[in-house]
Amino acid sequence: MLIDTHKYIFNCIYDIMYNDAYSSVVTSRIDRDNKFSHNEKSYIKTLCMGVVKNWIKLEYYIDKLSNKKPKKNVKILLMCAIYEIEFMDDNKDYLTVNHYVESAKNLFPHAKNFVNAILRQFLRNKDLLPNDNSLKSLSIIYSHPIELVEVLEKVYGRKRLEKILEVNQSVPKIYFRVNQKKITRTKLLEILIEEGFIVKPSDICENAILVEKFANNFTSLPSFLNGYYYIQDISSIIMINTVDINGNEKVLDVAAAPGGKSLGVAEKLTSGKLIAQDIYDKKLDRLLDNSKRLGIDIETKLGDATVFNEDYVEKFDVVIADLPCSGLGIISKKPEIKYRKSTQNLKSMVQLQEEILNNVSKYVKKDGYLYYSTCTILPFENEEQIRCFIEKNSNFKVVSLETKDLNNEFVNLVQDNLYSDGFFISKLMRL
Ligand SMILES: C[S@@+](CC[C@H](N)C(=O)[O-])C[C@H]1O[C@@H](n2cnc3c(N)ncnc32)[C@H](O)[C@@H]1O
Repeated sequence: MLIDTHKYIFNCIYDIMYNDAYSSVVTSRIDRDNKFSHNEKSYIKTLCMGVVKNWIKLEYYIDKLSNKKPKKNVKILLMCAIYEIEFMDDNKDYLTVNHYVESAKNLFPHAKNFVNAILRQFLRNKDLLPNDNSLKSLSIIYSHPIELVEVLEKVYGRKRLEKILEVNQSVPKIYFRVNQKKITRTKLLEILIEEGFIVKPSDICENAILVEKFANNFTSLPSFLNGYYYIQDISSIIMINTVDINGNEKVLDVAAAPGGKSLGVAEKLTSGKLIAQDIYDKKLDRLLDNSKRLGIDIETKLGDATVFNEDYVEKFDVVIADLPCSGLGIISKKPEIKYRKSTQNLKSMVQLQEEILNNVSKYVKKDGYLYYSTCTILPFENEEQIRCFIEKNSNFKVVSLETKDLNNEFVNLVQDNLYSDGFFISKLMRL
């Protein structure tokens, strides 16, 4: 049985690391798989995400312990075993080694002795990490490609770099945004505790709850089914709270799926209306499911934000452009991102953002607002993108953002600020 579970885990990791699957897609697949119990699913997800998160470090261990380069599948097996020993085991190292050697015997018989030798060597000497303070060592210890470590150091300096890498490697904090159309935070906290969650009010946002432990099968509980909350990171909740809404505005979200920002902003509308547009219809279906669950009225439209829409010109009080980006602010949730970003990818991403901004800015009414946000921390996708836009569009100006603790031209949340996702928010006014 454990061998089957191991095989399943190795395939999940293989898909993420060698077939470019998204970790979020793989973990949802695990969640939907009925052959595993709740505890088994949780073990499988922890191991998969842990190995992906620590790939460079685990690869380094294996290189140190062997002169041979193992085949991909055997390497993944070794990584899982070493990850379990280092991060998950409670003094059951020898048992763990025996289990993985047994799996090797069944799944890759030719590699059984090799696996046994490497794992026993690791048990004898776990102290393998470099201990100088070079960027190369940080790249290994925190499992980030050296090119990315160098870029982050250039932008944020040495001291912040290590904090950012540390947060990227940590278990992400999970928040619920309270659906204030249906319930107050105080009442929701009571219900969640009764249902078996461990939760506390966020001290960052008044409409947020920090979730320390989920109740089992939470999607079948009344709090979820009644649409009392939306699962969202705190940076996105801050973004929603910066959007000024009286209630009667016409709002367009140009890259809206799966709908986190749209649902949060539409919650504040009364006689107003929000159109949520995205280029993928499957993703819009998810948005609609969420809007039904939350009881929030939203109109969805399939559309490409780079394509000019005559009907939209100067029609909206608020346009939200929460655009595709390199995602370097959300590495703790989607660790595969750090291994996939090439310079070429980044260039085309910046061009796409520029193209969308130029196009959708035409949809903002005079005296209306354009909000631009990303979940990345690279200046050329953020403040530089906006400065460049303003230089070319003198009919827009940057407006200060006032949030609880911030009053800035831009809100630039970096992972070390709130120990949460990196996020950039800017607000522009159409003159
Ligand atoms: C950062 S995500 C948006 C997240 C969303 N605002 C939320 O809060 O849930 C970017 C979205 O842009 C969409 N997208 C990518 N290219 C697009 C385009 N040319 N036009 C419209 N949407 C696009 C993607 O499908 C993706 O859903």
